[in-house]
Amino acid sequence: MSIQKITVAGGGVLGSQIALQSAYKGFDVTLWLRSEGSIERTRPKLERLRGIYKQALEALKDDPSAFCHGLTDSPDVPIEELDQLIEQVGIAFDGLTLTISSQEAFGDADLVIEAIAEVIDEKETFYSSIRNLLPERTILCTNSSTLLPSAMASFTGRPDRFLALHFANNIWKQNTAEVMGTAQTSPESYQVVVEFARAIGMIPLELRKEQSGYLLNSMLVPFLSAAEALLANDVADVEAIDAAWTLGTGAPLGPFRILDIVGLTTAYNIVAASPAAQEPGSTAARIAAMLKQRIDEGKTGINAGEGFYKYQ
Ligand SMILES: NC(=O)c1ccc[n+]([C@@H]2O[C@H](COP(=O)([O-])OP(=O)(O)OC[C@H]3O[C@@H](n4cnc5c(N)ncnc54)[C@H](O)[C@@H]3O)[C@@H](O)[C@H]2O)c1
Repeated sequence: MSIQKITVAGGGVLGSQIALQSAYKGFDVTLWLRSEGSIERTRPKLERLRGIYKQALEALKDDPSAFCHGLTDSPDVPIEELDQLIEQVGIAFDGLTLTISSQEAFGDADLVIEAIAEVIDEKETFYSSIRNLLPERTILCTNSSTLLPSAMASFTGRPDRFLALHFANNIWKQNTAEVMGTAQTSPESYQVVVEFARAIGMIPLELRKEQSGYLLNSMLVPFLSAAEALLANDVADVEAIDAAWTLGTGAPLGPFRILDIVGLTTAYNIVAASPAAQEPGSTAARIAAMLKQRIDEGKTGINAGEGFYKYQ
Protein backbone atom coordinates (compact mmCIF):
# COMPACT_ATOMS: atom_id res chain seq x y z
CA MET A 1 0.00 0.00 0.00
CA SER A 2 1.30 3.41 -0.86
CA ILE A 3 1.00 6.12 1.77
CA GLN A 4 0.64 9.71 0.64
CA LYS A 5 -2.09 11.42 2.66
CA ILE A 6 -1.29 11.75 6.34
CA THR A 7 -3.49 13.16 9.04
CA VAL A 8 -2.03 14.04 12.40
CA ALA A 9 -4.55 14.43 15.21
CA GLY A 10 -3.44 16.95 17.83
CA GLY A 11 -1.09 19.88 17.34
CA GLY A 12 0.81 19.83 20.61
CA VAL A 13 4.51 19.28 21.17
CA LEU A 14 4.63 16.05 19.19
CA GLY A 15 1.75 16.50 16.76
CA SER A 16 3.23 19.70 15.34
CA GLN A 17 6.64 18.04 14.91
CA ILE A 18 5.24 14.91 13.23
CA ALA A 19 3.16 17.05 10.87
CA LEU A 20 6.00 19.34 9.76
CA GLN A 21 8.51 16.49 9.48
CA SER A 22 6.14 14.44 7.30
CA ALA A 23 5.42 17.44 5.07
CA TYR A 24 9.16 18.25 4.85
CA LYS A 25 9.70 14.74 3.49
CA GLY A 26 7.06 15.29 0.81
CA PHE A 27 3.85 13.88 2.28
CA ASP A 28 0.47 15.54 1.95
CA VAL A 29 -0.30 16.45 5.57
CA THR A 30 -3.46 17.53 7.34
CA LEU A 31 -3.45 18.50 11.00
CA TRP A 32 -6.75 17.89 12.72
CA LEU A 33 -7.46 20.06 15.73
CA ARG A 34 -10.52 20.02 17.91
CA SER A 35 -11.25 23.77 18.00
CA GLU A 36 -10.43 27.08 16.31
CA GLY A 37 -8.58 28.00 19.52
CA SER A 38 -6.41 24.93 19.13
CA ILE A 39 -5.61 25.96 15.54
CA GLU A 40 -4.48 29.36 16.84
CA ARG A 41 -2.28 27.69 19.46
CA THR A 42 -0.76 25.30 16.93
CA ARG A 43 0.29 27.89 14.33
CA PRO A 44 3.05 29.50 16.46
CA LYS A 45 4.42 26.04 17.27
CA LEU A 46 4.68 25.27 13.57
CA GLU A 47 6.25 28.66 12.87
CA ARG A 48 8.83 28.06 15.57
CA LEU A 49 9.63 24.63 14.13
CA ARG A 50 9.94 26.10 10.63
CA GLY A 51 12.57 28.49 12.04
CA ILE A 52 14.41 25.66 13.80
CA TYR A 53 14.49 23.52 10.64
CA LYS A 54 15.76 26.40 8.49
CA GLN A 55 18.37 27.40 11.05
CA ALA A 56 19.65 23.83 11.39
CA LEU A 57 20.01 23.47 7.61
CA GLU A 58 21.66 26.90 7.31
CA ALA A 59 24.13 26.01 10.10
CA LEU A 60 25.11 22.81 8.30
CA LYS A 61 26.61 24.91 5.48
CA ASP A 62 29.72 25.56 7.54
CA ASP A 63 29.42 23.34 10.59
CA PRO A 64 29.10 19.56 10.14
CA SER A 65 28.33 19.21 13.84
CA ALA A 66 24.97 20.92 13.15
CA PHE A 67 23.89 17.72 11.40
CA CYS A 68 20.36 16.66 12.34
CA HIS A 69 19.64 13.04 11.46
CA GLY A 70 16.03 13.69 10.48
CA LEU A 71 16.80 16.54 8.07
CA THR A 72 19.56 15.20 5.82
CA ASP A 73 21.04 11.77 5.23
CA SER A 74 24.55 12.89 6.16
CA PRO A 75 26.40 16.00 7.39
CA ASP A 76 28.03 16.24 4.00
CA VAL A 77 25.49 18.02 1.77
CA PRO A 78 26.39 20.48 -1.05
CA ILE A 79 25.31 24.07 -0.39
CA GLU A 80 22.91 24.15 -3.38
CA GLU A 81 21.14 21.09 -2.02
CA LEU A 82 20.89 22.67 1.42
CA ASP A 83 19.34 25.75 -0.18
CA GLN A 84 16.75 23.52 -1.85
CA LEU A 85 15.99 21.85 1.47
CA ILE A 86 15.59 25.22 3.16
CA GLU A 87 13.10 26.08 0.44
CA GLN A 88 11.41 22.72 1.04
CA VAL A 89 10.84 23.67 4.70
CA GLY A 90 8.84 26.70 3.53
CA ILE A 91 6.92 24.60 0.99
CA ALA A 92 6.13 22.01 3.66
CA PHE A 93 4.94 24.67 6.11
CA ASP A 94 2.76 26.43 3.50
CA GLY A 95 1.32 23.11 2.34
CA LEU A 96 0.02 22.03 5.75
CA THR A 97 -3.75 21.96 6.07
CA LEU A 98 -5.05 22.81 9.55
CA THR A 99 -8.67 21.90 10.03
CA ILE A 100 -11.32 21.18 12.64
CA SER A 101 -13.42 19.29 10.07
CA SER A 102 -13.32 15.56 10.85
CA GLN A 103 -14.63 14.76 7.39
CA GLU A 104 -11.83 16.72 5.71
CA ALA A 105 -9.17 15.26 8.01
CA PHE A 106 -10.21 11.62 8.16
CA GLY A 107 -12.43 11.02 5.11
CA ASP A 108 -9.54 10.31 2.73
CA ALA A 109 -6.46 9.63 4.87
CA ASP A 110 -4.03 6.81 4.12
CA LEU A 111 -2.46 7.05 7.55
CA VAL A 112 -3.69 8.74 10.74
CA ILE A 113 -1.26 9.45 13.57
CA GLU A 114 -2.98 10.23 16.84
CA ALA A 115 -1.05 12.59 19.15
CA ILE A 116 -3.75 13.88 21.49
CA ALA A 117 -3.69 14.01 25.30
CA GLU A 118 -2.40 10.94 27.13
CA VAL A 119 -5.78 10.12 28.70
CA ILE A 120 -7.40 6.82 27.81
CA ASP A 121 -10.99 8.12 27.96
CA GLU A 122 -10.09 10.96 25.60
CA LYS A 123 -8.38 8.52 23.25
CA GLU A 124 -11.53 6.37 23.30
CA THR A 125 -13.78 9.32 22.51
CA PHE A 126 -11.46 10.36 19.70
CA TYR A 127 -11.19 6.93 18.04
CA SER A 128 -14.92 6.32 18.39
CA SER A 129 -15.67 9.64 16.71
CA ILE A 130 -13.53 8.92 13.64
CA ARG A 131 -13.91 5.18 13.10
CA ASN A 132 -16.89 5.49 10.77
CA LEU A 133 -15.33 8.31 8.74
CA LEU A 134 -12.15 6.46 7.80
CA PRO A 135 -11.79 4.70 4.47
CA GLU A 136 -11.26 0.95 4.62
CA ARG A 137 -7.57 1.29 3.69
CA THR A 138 -6.59 3.71 6.46
CA ILE A 139 -3.96 2.64 8.96
CA LEU A 140 -4.19 4.19 12.42
CA CYS A 141 -1.22 4.82 14.70
CA THR A 142 -1.01 6.11 18.22
CA ASN A 143 1.99 8.07 19.44
CA SER A 144 1.09 7.25 23.04
CA SER A 145 4.08 7.03 25.38
CA THR A 146 2.50 5.06 28.20
CA LEU A 147 -0.68 3.37 26.95
CA LEU A 148 -0.37 0.03 25.22
CA PRO A 149 -2.05 -0.08 21.82
CA SER A 150 -3.96 -3.22 22.83
CA ALA A 151 -5.75 -1.08 25.44
CA MET A 152 -7.10 1.09 22.62
CA ALA A 153 -7.44 -1.35 19.72
CA SER A 154 -11.11 -2.06 20.35
CA PHE A 155 -11.98 1.67 20.12
CA THR A 156 -10.73 1.86 16.56
CA GLY A 157 -12.93 -0.73 14.85
CA ARG A 158 -9.85 -1.86 12.87
CA PRO A 159 -7.49 -3.67 15.24
CA ASP A 160 -5.62 -5.22 12.32
CA ARG A 161 -4.74 -1.73 11.04
CA PHE A 162 -3.87 -0.19 14.41
CA LEU A 163 -0.46 0.03 16.09
CA ALA A 164 1.87 2.37 17.93
CA LEU A 165 4.34 4.62 16.16
CA HIS A 166 6.19 6.32 18.96
CA PHE A 167 8.40 9.30 18.23
CA ALA A 168 10.96 10.90 20.49
CA ASN A 169 10.67 14.63 21.21
CA ASN A 170 12.65 16.81 18.74
CA ILE A 171 12.16 14.34 15.92
CA TRP A 172 14.31 16.23 13.43
CA LYS A 173 17.31 15.43 15.68
CA GLN A 174 16.27 12.47 17.84
CA ASN A 175 14.91 10.53 14.91
CA THR A 176 13.89 7.21 16.40
CA ALA A 177 10.44 5.82 15.70
CA GLU A 178 9.52 2.83 17.82
CA VAL A 179 7.03 0.64 15.97
CA MET A 180 4.92 -1.62 18.19
CA GLY A 181 1.90 -3.64 17.15
CA THR A 182 -0.59 -5.66 19.14
CA ALA A 183 -1.26 -9.36 18.66
CA GLN A 184 -4.01 -8.28 16.24
CA THR A 185 -1.98 -5.89 14.08
CA SER A 186 -1.51 -7.32 10.61
CA PRO A 187 2.07 -7.79 9.39
CA GLU A 188 1.16 -5.73 6.29
CA SER A 189 0.06 -2.69 8.33
CA TYR A 190 3.14 -3.02 10.51
CA GLN A 191 5.43 -3.08 7.49
CA VAL A 192 3.71 -0.07 5.88
CA VAL A 193 4.30 1.93 9.05
CA VAL A 194 7.95 0.87 9.25
CA GLU A 195 8.43 2.05 5.64
CA PHE A 196 6.59 5.31 6.34
CA ALA A 197 8.80 6.00 9.37
CA ARG A 198 11.88 5.49 7.21
CA ALA A 199 10.44 7.71 4.47
CA ILE A 200 10.08 10.65 6.87
CA GLY A 201 13.71 10.41 7.98
CA MET A 202 13.23 8.32 11.11
CA ILE A 203 15.15 5.20 12.12
CA PRO A 204 12.37 2.65 12.68
CA LEU A 205 12.99 0.51 15.75
CA GLU A 206 10.87 -2.59 15.50
CA LEU A 207 9.39 -4.19 18.62
CA ARG A 208 8.29 -7.78 18.21
CA LYS A 209 5.73 -7.58 21.00
CA GLU A 210 4.03 -5.06 23.25
CA GLN A 211 6.24 -3.61 25.92
CA SER A 212 5.27 -0.85 28.29
CA GLY A 213 7.88 1.91 27.91
CA TYR A 214 8.91 0.64 24.48
CA LEU A 215 12.68 0.10 24.11
CA LEU A 216 14.13 3.38 25.32
CA ASN A 217 12.11 3.92 28.48
CA SER A 218 12.33 0.25 29.42
CA MET A 219 16.06 0.87 29.81
CA LEU A 220 16.15 4.54 30.75
CA VAL A 221 13.65 4.53 33.62
CA PRO A 222 15.38 1.77 35.65
CA PHE A 223 18.78 3.33 34.91
CA LEU A 224 17.70 6.77 36.15
CA SER A 225 15.95 5.21 39.16
CA ALA A 226 19.16 3.42 40.14
CA ALA A 227 21.07 6.71 40.02
CA GLU A 228 18.35 8.49 42.01
CA ALA A 229 18.50 5.72 44.63
CA LEU A 230 22.28 6.16 45.01
CA LEU A 231 21.76 9.86 45.66
CA ALA A 232 18.66 9.55 47.87
CA ASN A 233 20.42 6.90 50.01
CA ASP A 234 23.43 9.23 50.28
CA VAL A 235 25.85 6.73 48.74
CA ALA A 236 27.60 9.44 46.72
CA ASP A 237 27.00 12.94 45.33
CA VAL A 238 25.62 13.91 41.89
CA GLU A 239 29.04 14.53 40.35
CA ALA A 240 30.51 11.21 41.52
CA ILE A 241 27.53 9.20 40.30
CA ASP A 242 27.61 10.90 36.89
CA ALA A 243 31.38 10.43 36.64
CA ALA A 244 31.06 6.73 37.44
CA TRP A 245 28.81 6.42 34.40
CA THR A 246 30.53 8.76 31.94
CA LEU A 247 34.12 7.76 32.74
CA GLY A 248 33.25 4.13 33.24
CA THR A 249 31.36 3.67 29.97
CA GLY A 250 32.42 6.54 27.72
CA ALA A 251 28.80 7.75 27.56
CA PRO A 252 28.56 11.51 26.99
CA LEU A 253 26.03 12.21 29.75
CA GLY A 254 25.56 10.87 33.25
CA PRO A 255 22.14 10.08 34.73
CA PHE A 256 21.72 13.45 36.46
CA ARG A 257 22.54 15.39 33.27
CA ILE A 258 19.90 13.24 31.57
CA LEU A 259 17.42 13.87 34.39
CA ASP A 260 17.93 17.61 33.94
CA ILE A 261 16.96 17.22 30.26
CA VAL A 262 13.97 14.96 30.94
CA GLY A 263 12.82 17.34 33.67
CA LEU A 264 12.55 16.60 37.37
CA THR A 265 8.77 16.87 37.31
CA THR A 266 8.45 13.91 34.97
CA ALA A 267 10.92 11.93 37.10
CA TYR A 268 8.92 12.82 40.21
CA ASN A 269 5.61 11.81 38.61
CA ILE A 270 7.04 8.42 37.68
CA VAL A 271 8.40 7.61 41.14
CA ALA A 272 5.47 9.15 43.04
CA ALA A 273 3.05 6.90 41.15
CA SER A 274 4.85 3.72 42.29
CA PRO A 275 3.32 1.78 45.21
CA ALA A 276 6.74 1.69 46.93
CA ALA A 277 6.73 5.49 47.22
CA GLN A 278 3.67 5.25 49.50
CA GLU A 279 5.74 3.40 52.13
CA PRO A 280 7.45 5.90 54.44
CA GLY A 281 11.19 5.35 54.71
CA SER A 282 11.42 3.34 51.47
CA THR A 283 14.02 4.25 48.88
CA ALA A 284 11.25 5.27 46.48
CA ALA A 285 9.76 7.61 49.13
CA ARG A 286 13.20 9.14 49.71
CA ILE A 287 13.68 9.65 45.96
CA ALA A 288 10.26 11.31 45.71
CA ALA A 289 11.08 13.63 48.63
CA MET A 290 14.47 14.54 47.16
CA LEU A 291 12.96 15.39 43.78
CA LYS A 292 10.03 17.25 45.34
CA GLN A 293 12.36 19.46 47.34
CA ARG A 294 14.22 20.54 44.19
CA ILE A 295 10.99 21.05 42.27
CA ASP A 296 9.64 23.24 45.10
CA GLU A 297 12.81 25.33 44.81
CA GLY A 298 12.13 25.80 41.09
CA LYS A 299 15.02 23.53 40.10
CA THR A 300 13.06 21.50 37.58
CA GLY A 301 15.83 20.95 35.04
CA ILE A 302 17.66 22.50 32.14
CA ASN A 303 14.61 24.47 30.93
CA ALA A 304 14.43 26.23 34.30
CA GLY A 305 18.18 27.01 34.25
CA GLU A 306 18.82 24.64 37.15
CA GLY A 307 18.12 21.05 38.11
CA PHE A 308 20.89 18.92 39.53
CA TYR A 309 23.28 21.25 37.70
CA LYS A 310 23.20 25.00 36.97
CA TYR A 311 22.92 26.16 33.33
CA GLN A 312 23.61 29.47 31.65
N1 LIG B 1 5.90 15.29 24.67
C1 LIG B 1 6.69 14.25 24.41
O1 LIG B 1 7.90 14.30 24.62
C2 LIG B 1 6.10 13.00 23.80
C3 LIG B 1 6.98 12.08 23.21
C4 LIG B 1 6.46 10.94 22.59
C5 LIG B 1 5.09 10.71 22.61
N2 LIG B 1 4.25 11.61 23.21
C6 LIG B 1 2.81 11.30 23.17
O2 LIG B 1 2.18 12.10 22.19
C7 LIG B 1 0.84 12.41 22.59
C8 LIG B 1 0.69 13.91 22.64
O3 LIG B 1 1.66 14.44 23.51
P1 LIG B 1 2.12 15.96 23.43
O4 LIG B 1 3.29 16.08 24.32
O5 LIG B 1 2.20 16.41 22.02
O6 LIG B 1 0.86 16.64 24.13
P2 LIG B 1 0.39 18.18 24.11
O7 LIG B 1 -0.37 18.39 25.37
O8 LIG B 1 1.54 19.07 23.80
O9 LIG B 1 -0.61 18.23 22.87
C9 LIG B 1 -1.83 17.56 22.81
C10 LIG B 1 -2.62 18.06 21.60
O10 LIG B 1 -3.83 17.32 21.51
C11 LIG B 1 -4.95 18.18 21.64
N3 LIG B 1 -5.92 17.45 22.46
C12 LIG B 1 -5.85 17.22 23.79
N4 LIG B 1 -6.91 16.49 24.18
C13 LIG B 1 -7.65 16.26 23.07
C14 LIG B 1 -8.87 15.57 22.82
N5 LIG B 1 -9.53 14.98 23.81
N6 LIG B 1 -9.34 15.53 21.56
C15 LIG B 1 -8.67 16.12 20.56
N7 LIG B 1 -7.52 16.80 20.73
C16 LIG B 1 -7.02 16.87 21.97
C17 LIG B 1 -4.45 19.45 22.30
O11 LIG B 1 -5.25 20.55 21.95
C18 LIG B 1 -3.03 19.53 21.69
O12 LIG B 1 -3.11 20.06 20.37
C19 LIG B 1 0.64 11.71 23.93
O13 LIG B 1 0.03 10.47 23.71
C20 LIG B 1 2.06 11.54 24.46
O14 LIG B 1 2.17 10.41 25.31
C21 LIG B 1 4.72 12.75 23.78
